[in-house]
Amino acid sequence: MRKMMVVAIGLIAGFGADRPVVNAVVGNKPELPAQPPPVAVQASQPPAKAEKPSPPAPVNVSPPAPSAPVPAATPAPAATPPDKTGKPGQKYSLAPLPKTVKASSLHGPYDAGSCGLCHKNDDAKNPGPITKTMAEMCLDCHDEFKKLTTRKFTHTPAKDNCTACHNPHNSVQPKLLVDEMGSLCMSCHEPIKKLATGAKVKHGAMAADKKCANCHNPHGTDVEHLLVQLPFDLCMKCHSKDDMTDAGGRKLANFKKLLDENPVWHAPVAAKDCSACHKPHGGDHFRLLGSDYPPQFYSPYDAKNYALCFECHNDEMLKSAETTALTQFRDGSRNLHYLHVNKLDRGRTCRACHEVHASTHPHHIRDSVPYGPKGWMLKINFTKTETGGSCERTCHTKKTYTNKPLKTPPPQEKK
Ligand code: HEC
Ligand code: HEC
Ligand code: HEC
Ligand code: HEC
Ligand code: HEC
Ligand code: HEC
Ligand code: HEC
Ligand code: HEC
Ligand code: HEC
Repeated sequence: MRKMMVVAIGLIAGFGADRPVVNAVVGNKPELPAQPPPVAVQASQPPAKAEKPSPPAPVNVSPPAPSAPVPAATPAPAATPPDKTGKPGQKYSLAPLPKTVKASSLHGPYDAGSCGLCHKNDDAKNPGPITKTMAEMCLDCHDEFKKLTTRKFTHTPAKDNCTACHNPHNSVQPKLLVDEMGSLCMSCHEPIKKLATGAKVKHGAMAADKKCANCHNPHGTDVEHLLVQLPFDLCMKCHSKDDMTDAGGRKLANFKKLLDENPVWHAPVAAKDCSACHKPHGGDHFRLLGSDYPPQFYSPYDAKNYALCFECHNDEMLKSAETTALTQFRDGSRNLHYLHVNKLDRGRTCRACHEVHASTHPHHIRDSVPYGPKGWMLKINFTKTETGGSCERTCHTKKTYTNKPLKTPPPQEKK
């Protein structure tokens, strides 16, 4: 122990002066990386939807790498990582990089030549086997990680197998990672890999900056699914810019502005549940939506096309030309939802009239509609009245509807 401290202090003097230094060495208490808010929170559920069963994330893991002593430290293979070591459960080589390969991160104890901190011998030519358990070997110095297990959610491999992700010596990757971050995470998370690489609509967040770590803490957090922030705050962190475009170059709304300027929020947005509708890892539907929703302004009617909305709303509202119960968008018993949407050819999609995130008008009616290939914004001029409402000019001259209940509703439609 004393020997370790001496070497460790030597380490700080050597290169740690202006860099974050681990706890055991100096006794200060740095927080775990990417500290989430201290509150214990669950991501909120979609309000109107029956709770989706979330099956446990299928992961592709073999038994943990042995942290017990190995017979002898064999010389480093000549190739760059990731190499298979052939050890059960260890997918990546933990050997130091060959001298010819330039490291982009270096571990202090290794760099100082202190093999004996972890190996039997303090001799770089013949370090011999590892003599400590993983916990002793890493947590003795990185003792802020002992607090990990007090987090509400701890990443399983971080409990006892730091070297599932970190090379104890050096690496061509930052932070001593044994592989490029995305590939590393996906080496165990096969379903996410399928989404990230095979989905028709990909999410820029998966490839930008810190990749998976944009949203997840690889060690542990107090937010469900190891998220670094509540999902809503995560989305807003990136989607509050003016200059964002999708993969096809189309401009994307600045959500901070959008939500600030439009006080009537759609219930799931008000519940801060962006993932009620969007899949953060990628998906096969327009705009990363969880189910079908037509990308165009016009769409032939088929309930399937609106599966997204009908996860929470009743699709009966679009099925019959006459009703006094299924929708308030009717003139007497004439169903105006049916009239506008339920067409074989140019049915208006919901976006013709509704904002899906937030609006200034009641019932999430839009102020104006994007129309034509250039996306011109045309005013709808919706006015809410005591007995219904009216729309004017853009699509037709002023038309008014009255949805007061009829005095004698047709008996077959009584609820
Ligand atoms: C912070 C702890 C630590 C330090 C310091 C350290 N090593 Fe290691 N070393 C390990 C671990 C952990 C393994 C993997 C053992 C295993 O796979 O069971 C390892 C494995 C190795 C291997 C074998 C790789 C393989 O795939 O079998 C070599 C060679 C090696 N170390 C050399 C060194 C040398 C030389 C030094 C000193 C200059 C050193 N190590 C310092 C932790 C350390
Ligand atoms: C003797 C003390 C000591 C031990 C044992 C030790 N570390 Fe470290 N580690 C340090 C110090 C000091 C730093 C920060 C200074 C540096 O490397 O630049 C550090 C930094 C790191 C970093 C960040 C590297 C970077 O580029 O930012 C990782 C990751 C890490 N250690 C992982 C491990 C793992 C995994 C183990 C167990 C196999 C381990 N450490 C064991 C002292 C230790
Ligand atoms: C599942 C993979 C994984 C496991 C297991 C894991 N880490 Fe990490 N670790 C990462 C990644 C990824 C980063 C970089 C995070 C980032 O850049 O935001 C990281 C960063 C670090 C850092 C640098 C923190 C900083 O702010 O620079 C240290 C130190 C560290 N890990 C130590 C450990 C220790 C000790 C363990 C075992 C208790 C461990 N890690 C287990 C993936 C892992
Ligand atoms: C060595 C294999 C391994 C690696 C590498 C790995 N994971 Fe995991 N991960 C697991 C295991 C095992 C679980 C626990 C699965 C469970 O509880 O069903 C898990 C759970 C998770 C969860 C929580 C799932 C939930 O629903 O709560 C997330 C998020 C996650 N990992 C993200 C990552 C990220 C990000 C990385 C890369 C930094 C990564 N994983 C790397 C094995 C791994
Ligand atoms: C790290 C930054 C980042 C975070 C965090 C982030 N996004 Fe994104 N998102 C992007 C970028 C960059 C694009 C544009 C490139 C693209 O389309 O993939 C994008 C595009 C999108 C798109 C349009 C996709 C398309 O091509 O049609 C949707 C929808 C979206 N994000 C939703 C979300 C939601 C919901 C969240 C929160 C769970 C979120 N984003 C979090 C960076 C981020
Ligand atoms: C834009 C933010 C974002 C990025 C980037 C991201 N995730 Fe997630 N991840 C989430 C959210 C939000 C959840 C919560 C469940 C949900 O809404 O689908 C989640 C859930 C998970 C889960 C558990 C539930 C499931 O769907 O299986 C795993 C495992 C996971 N992520 C792994 C990864 C890996 C691996 C990467 C990188 C390849 C990654 N994530 C990148 C936001 C993100
Ligand atoms: C009720 C479902 C639903 C919820 C909840 C939801 N979205 Fe959307 N989102 C959609 C639909 C539908 C579209 C496509 C709108 C269109 O093109 O008409 C969309 C489009 C987007 C786009 C592309 C924007 C653009 O300018 O074209 C982004 C980015 C996005 N959503 C992010 C978010 C964020 C962030 C949240 C949480 C604050 C969120 N969404 C919540 C359904 C939803
Ligand atoms: C995750 C569940 C969910 C999804 C998906 C969803 N909604 Fe909603 N929506 C709600 C809830 C909850 C309310 C508020 C309760 C209510 O008025 O029915 C609401 C209210 C509305 C209202 C306002 C009703 C009023 O009279 O004030 C409109 C319009 C609406 N949604 C349209 C849509 C459209 C269009 C879609 C598909 C793009 C959609 N919703 C998808 C949950 C959802
Ligand atoms: C032509 C314009 C228009 C289109 C297209 C349209 N709506 Fe509406 N919708 C309205 C109006 C106006 C109201 C408000 C009725 C009232 O209460 O006065 C409304 C109300 C609603 C409501 C509240 C409950 C109800 O039926 O009164 C929901 C939910 C809704 N719309 C969903 C949708 C969905 C889903 C689509 C696409 C499949 C859609 N709307 C298409 C104009 C439209």
